[in-house]
Amino acid sequence: MNRNDRATIAVADPSELDEVERLVTRVGLPTGGIRAGKGRFWLARDGDGRVVGCVGLEPYGAQALLRSLAVDPSYRGVGTGRALVETAIAEAGSQAEEIVLLTTTARAYFARLGFGVMNRADLRGPVNASEEVASLCPDTATVMVLARPRADGRRGAP
Ligand SMILES: CC(C)(COP(=O)(O)OP(=O)(O)OC[C@H]1O[C@@H](n2cnc3c(N)ncnc32)[C@H](O)[C@@H]1OP(=O)(O)O)[C@@H](O)C(=O)NCCC(=O)NCCS
Repeated sequence: MNRNDRATIAVADPSELDEVERLVTRVGLPTGGIRAGKGRFWLARDGDGRVVGCVGLEPYGAQALLRSLAVDPSYRGVGTGRALVETAIAEAGSQAEEIVLLTTTARAYFARLGFGVMNRADLRGPVNASEEVASLCPDTATVMVLARPRADGRRGAP
């Protein structure tokens, strides 16, 4: 694995979801729902085709849940995580006014990418029905939200 290679990011097809599960497990994130077909996943690969990162996005109407962001420990610190987040957000579609995520470990990381902390009780909308939010442990997980510009130029609901 050569950290000088810029990782290439592409949508994971169904046969590659085991690669997503393997990496997510390796970094200690939950795998529940990855195969449920609700979302789309992306894989980052190094120049030799080895998986070095992944991220997922589940659409919930005007909201989307960013999940399963993981970068192989030996490939960290070269912008792969940021590139994965930016890819997922760019692909979220104009209907996604809010990108929501839960994290127990990377609050400061996502704050640098523009996400703001939100009280669990203030989280409204269909994303509440997601497996990840429904199983949230409020004592340990932080809810973070990124409001995106809407087609009419206003920002999404806070
Ligand atoms: C969080 C994670 C995806 C970052 O991946 P990455 O490719 O190293 O990230 P980038 O290269 O885009 O950014 C690196 C920067 O983020 C910082 N950073 C990395 N993880 C961080 C964390 N958990 N909290 C705060 N800052 C963090 C690094 O120190 C580095 O800072 P610098 O630019 O000042 O040197 C990776 O550390 C990881 O897989 N962590 C375990 C899984 C996880 O916590 N996922 C998020 C929950 S969904």
